[in-house]
Amino acid sequence: METYNQLLKTLEEFNQSHLLQFWNELSSEEQQQLTEDINNLNLCEVTRFFKKANDSIEDEVKKLDDRMEPVPSAQYESYATTSNEQLELYRQQGLEEIAYGHVGVLLMAGGQGTRLGVTHPKGMYDIGLPSRKSLFQVQGERIRKLQQIAEEKTGRKGKITWYIMTSEHTMDQTRIFFENHKYFGLDKNDVVMFQQGLLPCFDFDGKILLDTKSHVALAPDGNGGIYRALRSSGILTDMKNRGVKHLHAHSVDNILIKVADPIFIGYCVSKDAHCAAKVVQKTSPNEAVGVVCKVDGSFQVVEYSEITQKTAELKSSDGSLVFKAGNICNHYFSREFLESVADHHEDQMKLHVAKKKIPYVDENGIRQKPLEPNGIKIEKFIFDVFQFTDKFLTWEVPREDEFSALKNADSAGKDCPCTARNDLFRLHKRYIIEAGGIVQNGDVCEISPLLSYAGENLSSIVEGKVFNSPVLIKSPDEDL
Ligand code: UTP
Repeated sequence: METYNQLLKTLEEFNQSHLLQFWNELSSEEQQQLTEDINNLNLCEVTRFFKKANDSIEDEVKKLDDRMEPVPSAQYESYATTSNEQLELYRQQGLEEIAYGHVGVLLMAGGQGTRLGVTHPKGMYDIGLPSRKSLFQVQGERIRKLQQIAEEKTGRKGKITWYIMTSEHTMDQTRIFFENHKYFGLDKNDVVMFQQGLLPCFDFDGKILLDTKSHVALAPDGNGGIYRALRSSGILTDMKNRGVKHLHAHSVDNILIKVADPIFIGYCVSKDAHCAAKVVQKTSPNEAVGVVCKVDGSFQVVEYSEITQKTAELKSSDGSLVFKAGNICNHYFSREFLESVADHHEDQMKLHVAKKKIPYVDENGIRQKPLEPNGIKIEKFIFDVFQFTDKFLTWEVPREDEFSALKNADSAGKDCPCTARNDLFRLHKRYIIEAGGIVQNGDVCEISPLLSYAGENLSSIVEGKVFNSPVLIKSPDEDL
């Protein structure tokens, strides 16, 4: 009774006493669970978050056209227009940073993958490659290969630390998957998993939802949750102890991701950037992706819905879109900048509202699985810290080489397993042809990352040879 009274008093203060509605029906174990859930909520903070996020809904429908300008050309370079010599300099610098152990990868793998409709973490997804490798495996093997390339180039054996941000929903399965696959040949000590924070889900009036009678409905706090989690899980300290100075942060669902891309790292390090965004050119003014630009003089990602059609269609004298820099959740951060964000800016980050169908227990105690959005999840976005620095860069890369996202089930027809697979096949077929091989009877081509990181190292294997699709080219020691 004492616990109940204490909880009630706190909850009443924040207008959330409905969370105790089923208290008398709960076993003592369940009462303890609910007590823990409520005590873990920072009610003062989360109710303030709800208000701030709710107020921002109005801002989100306002168009930003008059306040926007493209990224200045001095802070925008493109792979396609950079000379081979300069690319090689960037690459060399990136490989040296890797060889010195200065580079870490931050994989964002805490999302729930609701559009894809899987119950396990997206990184475990078998996309249907001939090798049946998962997204995690492909990425882990790219890291292994890059460590090897860096050692060959520099004579130093450096490690890339792989930081993996999971959430309550993905942590256990991710850890077990990595253990079952022996960390894909990486040193277990160089794979560091941590959990992002959770926030309660609210109904539209600001009442926290119950997932069951004894559990509050919680959801991950968005990929922008990394800044708080990096500090609270000791990752910034770990980076410092290992000497990691540069982080390549990216989403789990891009099959073409160039993990720890040495060219990108070299570009950012050589220009002493605090942070940077890899971007691809928007395919058309109407493509629903955020654009990297400046708003009121600060760097920002502006969502498609925040620009009028007229501005989206604006063209430069060379015929490209003025606001062409499509954001692909692929970023560089210096450790120094991450520390300053975690220490000084994290609580100024914008809060975004996602209206979702959230399972909940209704006032009659019946668990409902709504068919229409019934509440909101509050999310922070990783890119909302660009505004905190001027030392920001943009690196544009060819989409066909570096970006194909897995968001939806095949029925959507885009950004789905089928398109992701085909984009990889197309790229790898091109690698074979560029190295002097011939592919016939189809387009299915997969080259193991353990053999080639980005198309290099293939001519001695494929030159003058004819391959029949489906093609799977492995590294000689792959099955040993
Ligand atoms: P998305 O916003 O596309 O979300 O995440 P999602 O979870 O993959 O898919 P939906 O929206 O539920 O269908 C982009 C990247 O950010 C990560 C995801 O794992 C993905 O790599 N992410 C997202 C997190 O790490 N944490 C989050 O809270 C949300």
